[in-house]
Amino acid sequence: MAAGEPFYVTTPIYYVNDSPHIGHAYTTVAVDALARFMRLDGRKVMFLTGTDEHGQKIDRSARNAGIDPQVFCDRVSQNFRDMNVLMNVSNDQFIRTTEPRHIKASQALWLELEKRGEIYLDKFAGWYSVRDEAFYEESELIPGKTPGTKLAPTGAEVEWVEEENYFFRLSKWREPLLEYYKSHPDFIAPRARLNEIESFVKGELRDLSISRTSFKWGVPVPGNEKHVMYVWLDALTNYLTAVGYPDTDAADYKTFWPADLHMVGKDIIRFHCVYWPAFLMAAGLPVPKRIFGHGWWTVEGQKMSKSLGNFVTANDLAAKYGVDSLRYFMLRELPFGSDGDFSHRAMVGRINSDLANDFGNLAQRVLSFIHKNCDATLPVPAAFTPADETMLKAAHDLLPKLRTEFSEQTFHRGLEAVWAVIGDANRYVDEQAPWSLRKTDPARMGTVLYVLTEVIRQLAILTQPVVPTAAAKLLDQLCVPEDQRDFLALATPLKGGTVLPKPEGVFPRFVEEPKP
Ligand code: MSP
Repeated sequence: MAAGEPFYVTTPIYYVNDSPHIGHAYTTVAVDALARFMRLDGRKVMFLTGTDEHGQKIDRSARNAGIDPQVFCDRVSQNFRDMNVLMNVSNDQFIRTTEPRHIKASQALWLELEKRGEIYLDKFAGWYSVRDEAFYEESELIPGKTPGTKLAPTGAEVEWVEEENYFFRLSKWREPLLEYYKSHPDFIAPRARLNEIESFVKGELRDLSISRTSFKWGVPVPGNEKHVMYVWLDALTNYLTAVGYPDTDAADYKTFWPADLHMVGKDIIRFHCVYWPAFLMAAGLPVPKRIFGHGWWTVEGQKMSKSLGNFVTANDLAAKYGVDSLRYFMLRELPFGSDGDFSHRAMVGRINSDLANDFGNLAQRVLSFIHKNCDATLPVPAAFTPADETMLKAAHDLLPKLRTEFSEQTFHRGLEAVWAVIGDANRYVDEQAPWSLRKTDPARMGTVLYVLTEVIRQLAILTQPVVPTAAAKLLDQLCVPEDQRDFLALATPLKGGTVLPKPEGVFPRFVEEPKP
């Protein structure tokens, strides 16, 4: 990929009826790691996140709280901005669907679809789930707990809706969608999600109701203000709004559309992999390059739910474990794409073994050894031995591996590769035993320490996307200037003779509070 090439990546926009929890933090942190990676790799990045503020669900939540919907949205949306600051998220934009620019874009897309004959007015009768903001076919419903009642396949309650609605001619896009999936095998990831989407589209793909009349909290349908737009049509359009749509001559639109990646949870792939490309094709607009549907977290083996009261908020987790540790854990613990469990035990395991023992200890023992035994000065190396060359090569070989893993969103494998080199470096310390060379061969000791410090520099540069604060502290301790921290700088080795500051551990151990 050429330097400077644009990269547009998005999170879903979050419903403002919840406080940010681990599920929200997960999607956002994964995108943040990717955005940071691409920037360090010289790409021109647009990273978008934001809040989804319209629809019946938000309307009801605001009513239940006894608050005007806009005031309610302002309040909860701010919680998501706060989460970004807390989790050290480097988004370039934060969009809210109640912003005028977004209302304009949604209405423009509507008019375009209407102009092209893709929308018609009809009577709707069917099942709707407010929790999921989704329509369901009768055949998809499952029996509820009370005999005779029905639930959505997600377990959400459904209600029968009969209204005059506008419809989008989704059925017409069945073949083009299937064709698109076939000719763009990387469009839907991971593979299992593609199979799921394909079988959904291959079934009966009916036209989609895209407006509602029974409530007002939404984008008014242009020309018929009795209707508000279906919240998903409005929400998906956010990805276009942020780059300047409807002005397709806008610089950001030209640079960034179509998006490189929409990162979403597996629960919302149907909207992103079926409805969204169909809307775009119907409007004559280019389709995004890739949708990744990641897995879901349970907490200590249980689904998070209001009734169980086991929501784990990003605030609580960050306060308890630290932001970098939490970011690392989320991206390392699960094969990205699979479901997994968040447990205190697993979290502490990762902090104490991977971060504190493996990476933290490597840096600390090398840097404090230099501090004590080399006048705090990085030694100038003599000729490298084959063992030194092997060690340095292992670190050098990481970037191409990480490029592959990050471009496929297999973050866990990227981190595994980095930690394999950390393991190599710890073994190299033991084998080369610099402490035993202090009296017998100080020149060799200096070379070993130099090799290790150079490897630590490479590791710190490469781990910035995942543990930005700790990596920056390490690079400070190696006196690496701010403008020498991108991936291009990996090729410029440290200069021997540099005086290094007193080292400090960057990955503290997690110590359990003694039980009272
Ligand atoms: N507003 C829609 C998205 C519109 S995008 C045009 C929405 N919002 S949401 O707030 O309900 O969910 C946002 C994201 O959080 C989804 O990707 C969802 O998968 C993710 N998660 C919510 N709970 C989760 C877990 N327990 N685990 C992992 N991610 C989960 O859907």
